[in-house]
Amino acid sequence: MCGIVGYRGNGDASKIVYDGLKNLEYRGYDSAGIAVRDSSGINVDKGVGTVDESLSQRSGGSIALGHTRWATHGGVTEQNAHPHTDCKGEVAVVHNGIIQNYSELKQKLSGHKFKSDTDTEVIPHLIEEQLEQGKSLKQIAEYLRDTLEGSYAVVAMFESGEMMALKNRSPLALGIKEEELFLGSDVTPFLKHTDEAIFLEDGDYVLIDQDYKIYSDGEEVEREVEKIEWDAEQATKKGYEHFMEKEILEQPKTVKRAAFQDRKDMEQAEQMIEDAEKVWITGCGTSSYAADLGARYLRRRGVDVRVEQSHELEYRTDEIGEEDLVIGISQSGETADLLSVLEKLDNKLLSVLNVSGSTLDRKSDHTLHINAGPEIGVASTKAFTAQITVLKLLSYCVGGELEQGRDSLVQTADRIQGLMDNSEQEIERLSEYLVDKDDVYFIGRHKGFEMAKESALKLKELSYIHAEAFPGGEFKHGTLALVEDGVPVVGFLKQEGYEEMLSNLAEAKSRGADIIGVGQENGENFEFFIDIPEDQNSEILEVVPFQMLAYKTAVKLGNNPDKPRNLAKSVTVK
Ligand code: AGP
Repeated sequence: MCGIVGYRGNGDASKIVYDGLKNLEYRGYDSAGIAVRDSSGINVDKGVGTVDESLSQRSGGSIALGHTRWATHGGVTEQNAHPHTDCKGEVAVVHNGIIQNYSELKQKLSGHKFKSDTDTEVIPHLIEEQLEQGKSLKQIAEYLRDTLEGSYAVVAMFESGEMMALKNRSPLALGIKEEELFLGSDVTPFLKHTDEAIFLEDGDYVLIDQDYKIYSDGEEVEREVEKIEWDAEQATKKGYEHFMEKEILEQPKTVKRAAFQDRKDMEQAEQMIEDAEKVWITGCGTSSYAADLGARYLRRRGVDVRVEQSHELEYRTDEIGEEDLVIGISQSGETADLLSVLEKLDNKLLSVLNVSGSTLDRKSDHTLHINAGPEIGVASTKAFTAQITVLKLLSYCVGGELEQGRDSLVQTADRIQGLMDNSEQEIERLSEYLVDKDDVYFIGRHKGFEMAKESALKLKELSYIHAEAFPGGEFKHGTLALVEDGVPVVGFLKQEGYEEMLSNLAEAKSRGADIIGVGQENGENFEFFIDIPEDQNSEILEVVPFQMLAYKTAVKLGNNPDKPRNLAKSVTVK
């Protein structure tokens, strides 16, 4: 999942695209590239690494496009970095997605000189062939639409100064402003220039010259211009060293904001659940753990709910009845694994998501927006606590206690700052201790297991230390064999299963484990203990110290917490 940016207008195209790429780096940071069209033609600059590492800042030109890469086809090399050009260098192309039939197309392009191992490079050469046959840009766009298989958001720039864009599955937005047009994988590259955007639909293609025209199925179409709520300031670090640190510390505000869902919206969601035969709740990664919690909350309210990670739900669609409701959980609203299974279903769709205007948002019959603001750090933090806040509020609504539930969640939000202050020293001590560890095990029972999973995910995706989560009762059925002197085992002590969890931790301690407890202080003998204030929504509190632990441990190990290796913020490929 890469980030693409494009610009045409009377502004400084090089600078606008360079800055736009910086805002999109959370989508991929293996390599970056930019192409600028000026009086000397199309000039391409690209290299391996982040935007600052691989590109030199420059200004000038009125037409440009750029790319930040998350490698899928071809290694992390300068040749494989985008933009890619045709044989004559008269067409430059950037692409986000996967062209599944690229090798077949490549064979048909004999005589063309390919410089990279990417799937994308077939596109400029296909365009070159069409241009040589005298085809118009509209005909070329329709040819590409009918020829390329897979997911793609493509922006092409021509020596003539014209541009073209087309979309299928991968996200692509236009930023609208007087005499200027911006293109981006999402709104962050042009937020500081305009708050007016068009989210293109699958099958749309855009021809850009002095003005722009959007087409679909050969016909010119109007697409709605949407006002963007977020402002550019929100998408900045605001003086923090990393976005992740800022986003963790924003949670007293973001959890409260998530709790203030409109009553009508909650009641509409509740009605969708009431009307459903069964409910299926699904997501990926951190969002799948929010889905697991949401299922536990709704099941407690007597709802017949099933939960499955989206990439696995693909194999259970035959179990989903026509009258069933599907609830999709996602921060970005662009996760391909989730969108792909939804494409196979005609069911009513309720979504809990962060990015308005995203593909999932536009696909949904009803959306509960978690309002966490832009989340730039690749590791999801404030979006996760906002997701579970909304899911918990939904369960209160289903149970007929919406306002009491909302009040309790506001109290939970008010406890986060105190918790962060009180646990800071112990988290500092714990991260000091963990930097030399190779393996860390997290265990919990019932909702404690979900918190164990999310805490393990945060630690491993940021510190690269092997971390795994298990149901407390399951640990002794095998994994305990991996425990020896000094192996850290973290246990989430919640009211439910409290005594059993203490025994599970004692079993690990008797094998030499260092025990780390999370919950209400109880005087038991732990190497480390994270004291969590009493709270009826305590799971929202319990994960926060472990977000900070993952952050601090990553920084101590010299990793970039905002851009963990091999990962990216929104996974737009399957
Ligand atoms: C979490 O820290 C990761 N970034 C990843 O697991 C993420 O939660 C997953 O890719 C789902 O993304 P989404 O919420 O945008 O759909």
